[in-house]
Amino acid sequence: MKNVLVTGGAGFIGSNFVRYLLEVDQQVQIVNLDALTYAGSLENLKDLPDADRHTFVQGDICDRDLVRALLQKHQIDTIVHFAAESHVDRSILSPEPFIQANVIGTFTLLESARQYWMVEKSMPIEQVRFHHVSTDEVYGTLSPEDPAFSETTPYAPNSPYAASKASSDHLARSYNHTYQLPVTISNCSNNYGPRQFPEKLIPLIILNALTGKPLPVYGDGQQIRDWLYVTDHCEAIHLILTQGKSGETYNIGGNNQPANLTIVETVCDLLDELQPQTDPHRNLIKFVTDRPGHDRRYAMNISKIENELGWKPRHNLSDGLLDTAQWILANPSWVAAIQKQREYQTWLTKNYETREKSS
Ligand code: NAD
Ligand code: TYD
Repeated sequence: MKNVLVTGGAGFIGSNFVRYLLEVDQQVQIVNLDALTYAGSLENLKDLPDADRHTFVQGDICDRDLVRALLQKHQIDTIVHFAAESHVDRSILSPEPFIQANVIGTFTLLESARQYWMVEKSMPIEQVRFHHVSTDEVYGTLSPEDPAFSETTPYAPNSPYAASKASSDHLARSYNHTYQLPVTISNCSNNYGPRQFPEKLIPLIILNALTGKPLPVYGDGQQIRDWLYVTDHCEAIHLILTQGKSGETYNIGGNNQPANLTIVETVCDLLDELQPQTDPHRNLIKFVTDRPGHDRRYAMNISKIENELGWKPRHNLSDGLLDTAQWILANPSWVAAIQKQREYQTWLTKNYETREKSS
């Protein structure tokens, strides 16, 4: 791994991965291709360690000419593909951009890699790798007694977001099976941590609580996610790149599975200590209309990556939530830049003003 193309590296996980990779690998050169949608920001790439080894390119992964030119110009041997539309609620209200970025975008990258590495034979095939970053949501939903998702659980995506990611996984798999393109796939559970766009549950709740706004809990708040601190995810991806086997899929999860309401209450209690108010933050909790088709429970069986690559999550939820809240408090300019975005304010209105108070 010498010249790495990271897609979506100005977003939440991608920017944490760029930072992580520059720190753990002193040789690697990174080209970061990101369209800077509402979710991507150069703020996320400030103060990179050893920034000389990082080149940012603003552009769309669907732009085949641009992708091909970048592969050739930088002699890319490794692609780590994060770029995507990533928010389930947005996919419900407006699915089309998800098909474009997640399906067409992934196809464009796979096809460009195949042309450059396999048709043009630009470098020995043993030296290249396409890593596709995906989600546990492709597996659908679990009832309380079901075993956790494993790598062989049949796909059953329920939201347009999950369906678009499932499609991209199938394309990545097919490029390995048909063309022997060296592909690995990881399916990861919900991430949280610094630089997560505050449309997702944890940063949204932290920011709303800090500004005295209602804390919207969908439905009964008893839905379960398997929360993973973002740098643990970055470490797992790096291990898959360096030690994972081409053609394999790895599930990544946090072994932290509280109900949403418990997460929100935990954040409230944490903020009561960090930013005491006369009224406890829990008083801001508001149950609102549920998400249509809302998956009830996700849980990941991570024994494959534990046994084969020796990875396990390092952070427990209380330390991770404390780090996340402290990071947000310590970075008011990052918060201000997002709150200033008209698009963000429009999203909050669109998603929340139509949800009635359900209790
Ligand atoms: P994000 O929404 O924070 O960032 C996505 C980035 O992709 C943004 O910087 C955006 O500008 C960029 N992007 C979007 N469309 C693009 C396009 N057409 N061309 C170039 N860039 C484009 O997302 P995230 O939470 O960092 O997720 C990253 C990846 O990880 C996604 O593929 C997502 O499906 C997957 N994933 C996320 C989670 C999670 O909990 N956030 C969990 C599992 C898997
Ligand atoms: P989210 O962070 O959007 O991630 P995902 O939908 O990919 O799991 O949501 C996490 C959980 O929190 C999910 O069950 C939906 C719920 N949720 C709320 O209850 N209120 C909110 O305002 C948001 C954004 C999510």
